[in-house]
Amino acid sequence: MNDTHVPAEGGLGKPLVVLTDVNKHFGDLHVLKDINLTVREGEVVVVIGPSGSGKSTLCRTINRLETFESGSITIHGTPLPEEGKELAKLRADVGMVFQGFHLFHHKTILDNVTLGPIKVRKMERKVAEEKAMALLKRVGVAEQAHKYPAQLSGGQQQRVAIARSLAMDPVVMLFDEPTSALDPEMINEVLDVMTQLAKSGMTMIVVTHEMGFARRAADRVVFMADGAIVEENTPEEFFTNPQSDRAKDFLGKILTH
Ligand SMILES: Nc1ncnc2c1ncn2[C@@H]1O[C@H](COP(=O)(O)OP(=O)(O)OP(=O)(O)O)[C@@H](O)[C@H]1O
Ligand SMILES: [Mg+2]
Repeated sequence: MNDTHVPAEGGLGKPLVVLTDVNKHFGDLHVLKDINLTVREGEVVVVIGPSGSGKSTLCRTINRLETFESGSITIHGTPLPEEGKELAKLRADVGMVFQGFHLFHHKTILDNVTLGPIKVRKMERKVAEEKAMALLKRVGVAEQAHKYPAQLSGGQQQRVAIARSLAMDPVVMLFDEPTSALDPEMINEVLDVMTQLAKSGMTMIVVTHEMGFARRAADRVVFMADGAIVEENTPEEFFTNPQSDRAKDFLGKILTH
């Protein structure tokens, strides 16, 4: 099987997520510095960089979990909404998967996946459940549908979290270190689901230090340091021929581990 990511037929689509000169501070800390980033339909962008470089803040800002002070962020040409119904819709359109799985612990797996479609998308329960079961099957946890999150392994819970985001039919999926809280034997089962998702044409922004995933699934690697995008390139070029000293230094550290 050819494991290389193939962009959607006809190549990459039109700009989907566009950040223009985005700046954000936490108090005195300039945490996002003039960020310019365009992610096209069907594109898979891996974001890497040292701890504290602003990767999580970047994701949270795109999902409007964080505000920003200047610049603009648009999704399909529309600026991020400030509040209300439009904000709820944005959160549904922009799926997010975190390091911790953030499932509702008092709800079954099936209810975790159907909740958003029923409440936000106003889907009928029966339709939502059929869709949820199909998604749980796709991520390989259909047998767990009637259990509670605590009864599942970390890898299974993270796959449920992915299914839950997909149930909202997002236009783009953000992943913030989705495998870094997992035991080693569970990392691949989650990365495999993400690789399949990438191949299916989903637009994805993925913060991860999993170089294997980046090489096989990413169209582009974006390297951040100190709140700025320092360089971006194809995975092949970035890993074999990093340009900046920051990237060389960073790769030297993670690749020898
Ligand atoms: N809510 C907050 N209030 C104040 N400072 C914050 C807040 N969240 C993050 N920061 C700071 O902003 C900077 C960027 O943090 P961020 O979490 O985005 O980095 P990161 O690249 O995701 O790091 P890591 O690899 O450790 O997850 C850090 O210096 C962090 O301490
Ligand atoms: Mg982070």
